[in-house]
Amino acid sequence: MSLKSASTALVTGASFGIGLEMARELAARGHNLVLAARNIEKLREVSRELSSASIRVEILQTDLSQSGAARALYDELKRRGIKIDILINNAGSGIHGHFTDMDWQAVSAMLRLNIESLTELTHLFLRDFLEARAGRILNVASTAAFQPGPLMACYYASKAFVLSFSEALCEELRDSAVTVTALCPGPTHSEFQKRAGMGHVELFTRFSMKTRQVARDGVQAMLKGKRLVVSGWLNNLLVFLIRFSPRFLTPKLVYSFQSGRLASSQKK
Ligand SMILES: NC(=O)c1ccc[n+]([C@@H]2O[C@H](COP(=O)([O-])OP(=O)(O)OC[C@H]3O[C@@H](n4cnc5c(N)ncnc54)[C@H](OP(=O)(O)O)[C@@H]3O)[C@@H](O)[C@H]2O)c1
Repeated sequence: MSLKSASTALVTGASFGIGLEMARELAARGHNLVLAARNIEKLREVSRELSSASIRVEILQTDLSQSGAARALYDELKRRGIKIDILINNAGSGIHGHFTDMDWQAVSAMLRLNIESLTELTHLFLRDFLEARAGRILNVASTAAFQPGPLMACYYASKAFVLSFSEALCEELRDSAVTVTALCPGPTHSEFQKRAGMGHVELFTRFSMKTRQVARDGVQAMLKGKRLVVSGWLNNLLVFLIRFSPRFLTPKLVYSFQSGRLASSQKK
C-alpha cells in the first residue's frame, strides 16, 4: 500500500546532519514530522524552519542511548495521539580509537543508541504498521557495515548489525504492506566525524558526501520500498570491490584509513 503524502514521519537524530536533511526532504514532499534528538533548542529551530500551514512538526527531546528511552518515546507519541506512518532510525554515533582505551560507559551508550534503541523502535512501530497494513522503515546503517573496522571496531560492528537486521526483516515482511530499507552512507560531512573523535582522518573529509544528497537517496529508496541503498557512486564501487578482497586484507586497509596512514603515505 502506498503512503499518502500527508502521512507522519518520525525521524530520530533530526537536529543535525543527515537526519536534519531527511526532515527537510520529507517536509518538501508534504509529510508531517516528529523530530527526536537530545538538543531541544536545535529541534525548536528546525521546527520553526519546517512548520507551515500544510506541515505539522512535533519535537521530542530524548536520549536514545539511555535504556528505556525508545519505549518512552513510543508511549509519549501515543499519549499525544500521533500516528506514525514512517519510522526513520537515523540517530547514531561513533567512537574512534583502540578498543582497550575506550571508556566502557561511552561504548555501552553507543551500542544502546546504534543497536538497542533502533531495534526496539522498529519492534514497537512495526506492530502498528502491520495492523494498519501500511508503513515504511528506514534504518541508517553505513558502508562500515560491509567489513570489520579496526580503530572503530564497535561502531563498524554496530552498523553490520543494523544492515543484517534490516535485510533479514525485509525478507520476513516480503508479503506484507510494510517495507524496511537500509541506507548505507559512506563518509559524509556532518557533526559525526568531530563527535567520534576522528577529525584527523583526512581521507574521510576528502571523500565526504553532502548530507543533502545522502538524505535524498535514503528517503527516495525508502518511499520506493527498496531493500538497500548505498549512497554515492564511489561508495557503491568500494562496497562492490570489498566482496573480492581477501578477508585478512580488508581490516588492514581499514586500519590504515582510520589511523590516517593512507593519507600521509599518499602525500609522500
Ligand atoms: N557522517 C558520516 O560519515 C556517516 C557515515 C555513515 C553512516 N552515518 C550514520 O548516519 C547517521 C546520522 O549521522 P550524521 O552523520 O548525521 O551525524 P551527526 O551530524 O552527528 O548527527 C547525529 C544525530 O543523531 C542525534 N543523536 C546522537 N546521539 C543521540 C542520542 N543519544 N539520542 C538521541 N539522538 C542522538 C544527534 O542529535 P543530538 O546531538 O541533538 O542528540 C544528531 O541529530 C548515524 O546513524 C551515523 O552512524 C554517518
